Amino acid sequence: MPFWASIRVKILLAFFVVVAASFLVAATNLTGVVSNYLTSQRTREDTQAMENLAGIYGPMLQNGQEAALNNRLQSDAAGLDGRLMILDTDGKIQYDSFNTLCGQRTEIREAIRVLVGNDDAAYAMHKPGRETVATMTGEKDAEYLAYGAHELVGSWGTIGALVYVSRIQKMMDSVAQVQTQLNSVFVIIAVAALIPALFLSRVLTNPITDLSRTMRRMGEGDLSVRVPEKGSGELRQLAENYNTMAAQLEKMDQSRNQFVSNASHELKTPLATMKIMLETVIYQPEMPEELRAEFMQDMNHEIDRLTGIITDLLTLTKMDNRQDALKTEDVDMTALTEEILRLLRPVAERRRQTLESRVTPGIIMTGDRTKLNQILYNLIDNAMKYTQDGGTVRVTLDEAGENLIWRVKDNGIGIPKEDQEHIFDRFYRVDKARSRETGGTGLGLSIVRQLVKMHGGNISVASEPGQGSCFTVTLPRNGKGGAKA
Ligand SMILES: Nc1ncnc2c1ncn2[C@@H]1O[C@H](COP(=O)(O)OP(=O)(O)O)[C@@H](O)[C@H]1O
Ligand SMILES: [Mg+2]
Repeated sequence: MPFWASIRVKILLAFFVVVAASFLVAATNLTGVVSNYLTSQRTREDTQAMENLAGIYGPMLQNGQEAALNNRLQSDAAGLDGRLMILDTDGKIQYDSFNTLCGQRTEIREAIRVLVGNDDAAYAMHKPGRETVATMTGEKDAEYLAYGAHELVGSWGTIGALVYVSRIQKMMDSVAQVQTQLNSVFVIIAVAALIPALFLSRVLTNPITDLSRTMRRMGEGDLSVRVPEKGSGELRQLAENYNTMAAQLEKMDQSRNQFVSNASHELKTPLATMKIMLETVIYQPEMPEELRAEFMQDMNHEIDRLTGIITDLLTLTKMDNRQDALKTEDVDMTALTEEILRLLRPVAERRRQTLESRVTPGIIMTGDRTKLNQILYNLIDNAMKYTQDGGTVRVTLDEAGENLIWRVKDNGIGIPKEDQEHIFDRFYRVDKARSRETGGTGLGLSIVRQLVKMHGGNISVASEPGQGSCFTVTLPRNGKGGAKA
């Protein structure tokens, strides 16, 4: 990622734009105010001075006091630090405190306005170029000057005009200085603002960088990494949510690995048994015929077990992959229950077990017939398997509001408390040896639970070792099916 594309740079840039824009507005206003104040004050002062002098020069001009007027003009101009000139009504310069322009006609617009127009006085600041300023004020390298003019009044009206050339360069310099000072203040503010901005942008972007680094490592296969949950607000929430997701992924990955290793182990056992028996048959050619037949039968039995495990595994993975959608229809649960009982009764009789039942008639539910069948079959099969010969298994079907309830109760060996929460896990068996003897795979109950969940139902167990177990399945009759496990 190029440097300029980072959030950090964008935040810094935004910060800068905001600081610069607000400063620009403030600075422009401030310089405007300062320059307005200075120029208007200067205008007032200069105009006032001219008015005073005009009051004195008017009578002197009328009375023809040439020498005295010339002297006053010199000393007043020196006092004002400017240049004073007196024009006749034709605009010709009669007196000049610099003594250089006498006899010339003036082109100063303010003077013409006073002599020709109706104005008593005129004043304006100009930037006429360095050369003009140098000849008019005698200042080198100055750019600005101001011209003021005031009429001189005699007994019979206007008799001439006083012209004042004012040196305003210093004042203009102060305005420029304010500008320069504000600029340096801006640089200081910008640098000062940069420090918190750097800090802030780091605070903002660090969690994102962390997250991105963690995601990359997870993408490379290390599912154990987590984002540090620092700070507060949205970014902390993001980190927390991400970690929750990561934990879930890791758990899924672990349980998948566990499942694969369990499955391999389960498949290896019958294969190992078969290999031993097969080798015995191969290396003992003179084995008695009955023994050989018995071995063959045992191997056949092991093959059945392998097939059983693989069938169960396929069922489970199909459900995991959500390929096995529910084929829902209206199922007569009463009939379905009776049918399974009828099927299993001979098996129970063989072991002198009593298969009791109380089935509420006329219960219909929307669901997948084959899967519902599988649920009850598995539960009764377990109940008979884990109950001693001569025991009792009791199956009931009831209606409870919107739900129906299957109960499968036996007075068999029961399940210890600590195992009860695990029996629905894949491959979990309380007594491995006994389960294997009876042809169990340890997958039956996990399949049952999955099927129940698919129908939006619930399964629970209550059991006491030595007393028996009772499995309860609750299913919603409205076929809220499709609820995924
Ligand atoms: N009715 C029951 N009575 C006692 N134990 C049971 C009963 N049902 C299940 N179990 C225990 O739960 C374990 C898991 O059951 P299941 O998943 O059906 O596997 P399997 O029947 O193949 O052993 C069984 O191995 C057994 O230990
Ligand atoms: Mg079973």
